[in-house]
Amino acid sequence: MTPTATQRFALFGQPVVHSLSPRIHAAFARQQGVAMEYRAHAVAEGAFADALAGFHRDGGRGANITLPHKQAAVALCSSLSAAALRADAVNTLVRRDDGWHGENTDGSGLVRDLADRHGLDLRGRRTLLLGAGGAARGVLPALLDAGVGEVYIVNRSPARADALVDVIGEPGRVHARYVQDLDALGEFDLVINATSAGRAGEGPRIPLGVFAPRSAMVDLNYGPAAIQCLASARAAGARAIDGLGMLVEQAADSFALWHGRRPEADAVYQALRLDGPPNASAE
Ligand code: ATR
Repeated sequence: MTPTATQRFALFGQPVVHSLSPRIHAAFARQQGVAMEYRAHAVAEGAFADALAGFHRDGGRGANITLPHKQAAVALCSSLSAAALRADAVNTLVRRDDGWHGENTDGSGLVRDLADRHGLDLRGRRTLLLGAGGAARGVLPALLDAGVGEVYIVNRSPARADALVDVIGEPGRVHARYVQDLDALGEFDLVINATSAGRAGEGPRIPLGVFAPRSAMVDLNYGPAAIQCLASARAAGARAIDGLGMLVEQAADSFALWHGRRPEADAVYQALRLDGPPNASAE
């Protein structure tokens, strides 16, 4: 039998030193019998275009993109999926004959984790989205497509929340509110922490009144960065879900785009979970 040539894939971001993606993709490749190299490259802001060009010259076939390059990647693509276009951010690159094709699997990964792994019916859920940066923008379109109800976006800088509402263009359904008005917004069925505050030590302030007993709180971070928000939710009797499942699912969607088959993500998720809290916090 002729041995299959090893295909080159990569993660570009900074920092990437604690990233779980190389481990996740190595596990998928073993499981699927794919000969694949996947390396994490720490690349500073401004150096990404050159790094990607070099990767292509060296035979790179596809990549994951994480902070701070998800928006810069959009400009380097010759085509974009609908999800990447709506999020204005790319987390997956696929090399095609005419250049890089940009995809965004963050939103689909989150929805799959919540619906399939955690059994949440997202339809009609009154949703509080904390944060209006890249992570919030990446997941909001998929949540709306999955049928969540009204969404209230609350961000430290109100202008960014307003901008996200404008981009989404569903004024009857998606609203921006000030942080200081959080206590007056009532109860939510779904609360999502899409801020990076926990990575710097202290998560965003979440009044207990936003939780009802059947609420779910999802922190897109995982590991130490997610501890505080998830603890507030549990204290209020709500269900608490971290971002590890989303990480594995978005990686599985990337793998499927590169190799034409979706790996069995749950086995890899369970193995990571058994290993205890990772050092990384989000990707
Ligand atoms: P990411 O891609 O992780 O979303 P980002 O685009 O830099 O990164 O956005 C970070 C988000 O976390 C923003 O919503 C940011 O609020 P601002 O838009 O006001 O900067 C939010 N954030 C970061 N640190 C925070 C803190 N200490 N308290 C509350 N929100 C914070």
